[in-house]
Amino acid sequence: MIDRIKQLAEEIKTYKASSKDDSEAFRLKYLSKRGIISQLFNEFKLVPPDQKKAIGKQLNEIKILATNKLSELEIKFHVEDTIIGEYDLTLPGESIPLGSRHPVSIIRNEIIEIFSRLGFTVSEGPEIEDDWHNFSALNFPKDHPARDMQDTLFIQKNPDILLRTHTSPVQVRVMENQKPPIRTISPGRVFRNEAISARAHCIFHQVEGLYINEGVSFAHMKQALYFFTREMFGHNTKIRLRPSFFPFTEPSAEMDISCSICNGKGCNVCKHTGWLEIMGCGMVDPNVLEFCGIDPVKYTGYAFGMGIERVAMLKYQINDLRIYFENDKRFLDQFTGLY
Ligand code: PHE
Repeated sequence: MIDRIKQLAEEIKTYKASSKDDSEAFRLKYLSKRGIISQLFNEFKLVPPDQKKAIGKQLNEIKILATNKLSELEIKFHVEDTIIGEYDLTLPGESIPLGSRHPVSIIRNEIIEIFSRLGFTVSEGPEIEDDWHNFSALNFPKDHPARDMQDTLFIQKNPDILLRTHTSPVQVRVMENQKPPIRTISPGRVFRNEAISARAHCIFHQVEGLYINEGVSFAHMKQALYFFTREMFGHNTKIRLRPSFFPFTEPSAEMDISCSICNGKGCNVCKHTGWLEIMGCGMVDPNVLEFCGIDPVKYTGYAFGMGIERVAMLKYQINDLRIYFENDKRFLDQFTGLY
């Protein structure tokens, strides 16, 4: 039997097939139910026990040999089967192009990711707010001119209800509902009554951050923002803080980053100053803590806020805000593969 198997192996190896029919003939001859290999397996029952091991091994090998040969032949002659008229069914299909993430989402995710490494969690809140959360609790007195800094869209029937002008009201809600330590950022959409231009839009996105604990200082804020800047814009980026004013922070500052386009030497983008304004920040005003039920004697905190479109503009050198909202595919396609 061993000799027969050896001979068979030779036959199989040198089997010549030139068409699909030959390949089918091969299958019938060797591998079908009544084929030679099946017959050998039947005869195997009669093999004396002391030879079973050796012959069994040979039989298995021949079966594998024939099966491999058959798939080779089938692949070779498969094409004949797949050409129907003028259509070749083996040609790959047309691929469906993948969409891309919007640059605002990419940057939002990146900001969240960087601050999460400092222990910040994400909080969200409503886009339709009341006067208390958007203004009063943030230390904007009624009729105070600071309210004019943010051109507010009010709901006509009720001047107490408005579209939030910043995501700071989310932080008011967090402070009202949680006890320090609080370490959170709030990304979201905000609305202002602005004429649409390359530099301003009535809808845009912000991420604001808040850290409240015992002994939080301006130095903590500076270090956290410096860490963020280097992670977002590269490790050589410098920051500077300029005094500013917000009703809800005291002292307040505006943070600039060194211009990544000219490396601080001065160019059109940074208006030859070498610096680009990126966010507002400051120590939470004790009034705000008190309004939100947090003891301002025991706790201090810092807050900051930035526009996502602005960060994306600086990072990707986009010079017109309107392009974010036009959904021009040629623009969006440039962000394929980024998350
Ligand atoms: N809420 C401010 C704005 O929208 C940004 C800001 C947040 C400034 C926190 C300071 C601290 O203009």
